[in-house]
Order: sequence, then C-alpha cells, then structure tokens
Amino acid sequence: MTNASSRQELVEGLCAAQAEVAPKYLYDDLGCCLFELITRLPEYYPTCTELTLMTNNADDIMATVGTGATLIDLGAGNCRKARLLFPKLLPRQYVAIDISTDFVRQALCAMQAEFPDIDMFAVGADLSQRIDLPAAVNGARRTFFYPGSSIGNFDPDAALALLARIREHCRQRGGLLVGIDLVKDAQTLHAAYNDALGLTAAFNRNVLNHVNALIGSDFRLCEWRHRAFYDPRRGRVEMHLEAAADITVSWPGGRRRFAAGDSIHTENSYKYRLDDFKALLAQAGFGDVRAWTDERQWFAVCYAGV
Ligand code: AVI
Repeated sequence: MTNASSRQELVEGLCAAQAEVAPKYLYDDLGCCLFELITRLPEYYPTCTELTLMTNNADDIMATVGTGATLIDLGAGNCRKARLLFPKLLPRQYVAIDISTDFVRQALCAMQAEFPDIDMFAVGADLSQRIDLPAAVNGARRTFFYPGSSIGNFDPDAALALLARIREHCRQRGGLLVGIDLVKDAQTLHAAYNDALGLTAAFNRNVLNHVNALIGSDFRLCEWRHRAFYDPRRGRVEMHLEAAADITVSWPGGRRRFAAGDSIHTENSYKYRLDDFKALLAQAGFGDVRAWTDERQWFAVCYAGV
C-alpha cells in the first residue's frame, strides 16, 4: 500500500460513524515486538496451544503436507514457526510474507545463514490485497502456511476472499496449513485479550503512535483506554480504544471529536467452529481437509489440499 492510500484509509476510518483503524496498523516495529511478547503471556493460549498441537502431531501433519515444496509463510513475523517445520518439510524455497517488511527481512537474514540450501525471499505485503509472489518462486508445489489464527483477524467475507486467493496460487498441486482459534468459554477469551500485565493494552494503544506517524495526527495515548470483549453472537473478540474524556484529534486537513466513551474499533478476532471453517475452505475451492486439535479443543490446525 502506498503512503497516500494508507492515509486515505486511515482518515476514512477515523471519520466513520464507528471510528476504526484496520488491525494491520497494529504492526509497526514496536507493535511487532509487543505482539511477540503477547505470545509468551500465560493468558494468551493460542501460540502455545498451536505449538504443542503441532509438536504432538508433527509426523502425521508432515506426512500429510509432504516434503520438497515451496513454503510460503503468510504473516511470517519472526519466522519462528516456519523454522520449526524446515527439518521435516525440507522446503526447496521459503517465502516469508509480512506486512512489516523490515521485521521479516531481519528474521530471514539470520535464518538464511542457518539454512544455506533453501532459497529464501522476504516479501512485504498486505494480505487484504493481491499476493504477488517473487518471480523466482518456481516450485511446482506450493505449501501455504498461515499459523497463529491470523485468519481470524479478517471478517468472514474477507477471510473467504483471502482463502480463495491462496487456493488460486496453489494451482494444481499444494495446499494450505492453517491455524484457527476455536470457540470456547468467554472467560478464557476475555483473559487472553485483557492480560494482567497490560501488554495487550499497550499493543492496542500503540496503534495510535503508528497512526500519528502515518498521518501526522495528535493522538495522546494516555487519553485512550484499552477495551476488549467477546461477542458470542458474532463469534469474535473485539478490541477498541475508548476515549477517557471528550477529545478532539486533529491531523493536517481534518479533525474528529470524540465524546468520552466513544471508541475506535481496532481489531476483530474471530473464533471458529471447526465445521464452519471447513465449510469456508470448501467454499474457497479447497478439496480434502484434515484437522488436528488439542485435548481441550481450543485450537485447530487444518491442512486443506487442492
Ligand atoms: C495476530 N492475531 C491472531 C492476534 C489475535 O489473537 O487476534 C492479534 C492479537 N490481538 C490481541 N492480542 C493478540
């Protein structure tokens, strides 16, 4: 996305009746670091549950996915999860895609030295748009990897569109290995997005630093409260920033008045029922689906072939 289109998207979002900032803006450099810390919190179960689930079912998962493909990591971040797959999946090429180009480039530099035989590519991309793979990506079979339940940060229509784009990239062979967060009790969900240390609150508030940098606005972080709640009707956790007092925010060319209690919607995190997600994969054009879940049925990893 160009600076001008980000600016337009942000200003439109801030001026909407329910103000919003798209969740991709949570991930500036500091946001990436804060998210990484969140994944280590005791309350934030998705990361450790997915890791344990993949470790416990590693042989079965790897046998299903197959070796020697081009591994395309969507939302790669620090590439830690994909790295764990290398010894078993033996990818010929590895493409790490992330909204934060610098972050993923740094991670890849360190990994390339460790795995000199794998061709590695860092791609900065916004997954809500078209995915352009580097021209050098020539592997006949493509395995897309989208862990961490990040697909849950897309509304169902956008998730379907993204899955369909991935399906198209798989062509005749290949598939998608994807992690999804499952519906569970509201208390566990509430704790995961309202951790006692306040890291999720910092991650949420930091989006305003990023917005200030991008559009020259004058948000003051101390005036905004973190609010996250589970809406069982919509099957999602919503994250908002709530104005602690009446506030006027200005930027070159515009302003918005927020009354105390008004909010800016910063993220949705959808929690799926496994059958609903399988139906979404089928709707996107995928064929066979295999799924692995943990004992508590909190998280699922699915492999959808073409
Ligand atoms: C990246 N994504 C899957 C995280 C989630 O749980 O929706 C982002 C996050 N938001 C608050 N905590 C973590």
